[in-house]
Amino acid sequence: MLAYRHAFHAGNHADVLKHTVLSLVLRYMNQKDKGWRYVDTHAGAGGYSLEGEYANKRGEYEQGIALLLERSDLPAPLVELVALVRQFNSGKALRQYPGSPAIAQALMRAQDQLRLSELHPTDFKILASYLGDVPGVEVKLTDGFAALKSHLPPTTRRGVVLIDPSYEIKTDYTRTLAAVRECLERFPEGVVVVWLPQVQLVEAAHLPQRLKAAADTGAKKGWVHARLTVAQADERGFGMMGSSVFVANPPHTLFAELQPVMPYLAQVLAQFDGAKSALEKSHGA
Ligand SMILES: C[S@@+](CC[C@H](N)C(=O)[O-])C[C@H]1O[C@@H](n2cnc3c(N)ncnc32)[C@H](O)[C@@H]1O
Repeated sequence: MLAYRHAFHAGNHADVLKHTVLSLVLRYMNQKDKGWRYVDTHAGAGGYSLEGEYANKRGEYEQGIALLLERSDLPAPLVELVALVRQFNSGKALRQYPGSPAIAQALMRAQDQLRLSELHPTDFKILASYLGDVPGVEVKLTDGFAALKSHLPPTTRRGVVLIDPSYEIKTDYTRTLAAVRECLERFPEGVVVVWLPQVQLVEAAHLPQRLKAAADTGAKKGWVHARLTVAQADERGFGMMGSSVFVANPPHTLFAELQPVMPYLAQVLAQFDGAKSALEKSHGA
């Protein structure tokens, strides 16, 4: 039984980082007319109310997206993210936050396709009622890792995969690595975006290196890794300190676009004095 509900975390620092990268990638895909396919292995509910009991219980968005809304010094990719979030809210108040499927739908064109998998029955129901009837969108109550093979490669050979598990079970770490390898075997030029938590677990500590090795072997255009640390673990070593996003076959513009974003986010979203960011890329990315 899955306990994780993304509604508690919607709009937090991790969503800000992940959704900034995702929207940069999809905007880049839109520079060519040829259609793309977006595969979201862990789609969640699609969009989230920030007025609901889930989001308000922890108020994580208040230390995330809410801190960016009124700023006048945002780097360009964050101006675009804030504009996108505003599209889901009428007026100034922040009531809704888009999930990855809503962001992809906002950026898709008539020739593009969305393939969304979600395993939690409640979130699936919300997602299906929100996007299930949209032309070009397919929503399934299924294991997103297992569904990958049916979606890759896309016939246009243009595609983006988002792998965004909750990592509530430790096998998510090994399954994520296997999924990235599978994506690159089936579709070596495909863009693969992976979200990773920064927590004190050996599996989490090793995954970035393993993903880099997988992309060094299987990706045609290298990788970019963006890491944001905003908080400290508690005295028992529990809690999320931050997160990172790994991109295999990134757009050639991604690294430069993220350069001003990462230190900015570390400064504005900092929850302690040691907040920091790191941005790395392979040769050829
Ligand atoms: C971090 S949330 C996804 C958030 C979403 N990608 C976004 O950015 O808005 C992870 C989701 O994966 C779902 N989930 C967990 N294991 C899954 C699996 N094997 N296949 C598909 N969905 C799964 C959870 O129910 C949860 O809704």
